Amino acid sequence: EFTVELSRSGRVITIPADRSVLETLRDAGLDLRSSCESGTCGTCRTRVVSGEPEHRDLVLTDQERKNSMMICVSRARGGKLVLDL
Ligand code: FES
Repeated sequence: EFTVELSRSGRVITIPADRSVLETLRDAGLDLRSSCESGTCGTCRTRVVSGEPEHRDLVLTDQERKNSMMICVSRARGGKLVLDL
């Protein structure tokens, strides 16, 4: 598991090993857009403020991966990500 901090509210949410960031944040009450939920459409792209994502999508370019991630499939390499949400 790892934690996600929401930069706009300062909330810190734990993402369990068996759930996606998208699912977990929805459960926490966030209204998030998605479509494929398999890392291929680009709808759930979210800006990463800090932390190192573990990218598992199939759509982002290396350039885009420097500051964003697809939260339906990608996770964190370290213990924490700060997202622009
Ligand atoms: Fe399609 Fe995340 S919902 S890439």
